[in-house]
Amino acid sequence: MTDQNNNQLPPDTMPQLRVMPMPSDANVHGDVFGGWIMAQVDIAGSLPATRRANGRVATIAVNSFLFKQPVFVGDLLSFYAEIVKVGNTSITVNVEVYAERNRLQTEVVKVTEATLTYVATDAQRKPRQLPPLAS
Ligand SMILES: CC(C)(COP(=O)(O)OP(=O)(O)OC[C@H]1O[C@@H](n2cnc3c(N)ncnc32)[C@H](O)[C@@H]1OP(=O)(O)O)[C@@H](O)C(=O)NCCC(=O)NCCS
Repeated sequence: MTDQNNNQLPPDTMPQLRVMPMPSDANVHGDVFGGWIMAQVDIAGSLPATRRANGRVATIAVNSFLFKQPVFVGDLLSFYAEIVKVGNTSITVNVEVYAERNRLQTEVVKVTEATLTYVATDAQRKPRQLPPLAS
């Protein structure tokens, strides 16, 4: 994914999630509550992790989280997630969030970047060895 903020969504890649925050997702100042954004990031990151684990995963760590720009009610948010590290049982995912503001004028702003680690778990919620990559 790109570090640039060139008023465009990242090319050649599909977001895991697209969602628009509503007034009920706002904080007391009227901007979108960071905890709501964190929840969406966790969901977006879990999608490639679940596919790689071929089963359930649990979030073990939020390694980093940067709220670089505010998010406003009515922004159209796109969540891009990419696996950056795979261990024995763990999968680390980078998530970038872009907001399309004033959508008729195509203003795109990278608002958030985070790295999270998920652990593949079994039916007893214990860590599970990751399966080999499908060929
Ligand atoms: C996820 C869980 C099953 C893992 O069990 P555990 O006994 O703590 O796991 P381990 O210590 O064996 O570590 C498992 C993997 O996580 C990694 N890990 C552990 N602590 C970590 C940390 N702080 N940051 C990143 N990775 C970490 C380990 O390196 C290991 O990876 P590897 O197997 O690829 O080498 C357990 O911690 C748990 O149930 N946590 C709660 C999960 C949850 O409820 N999440 C939602 C909360 S909102």
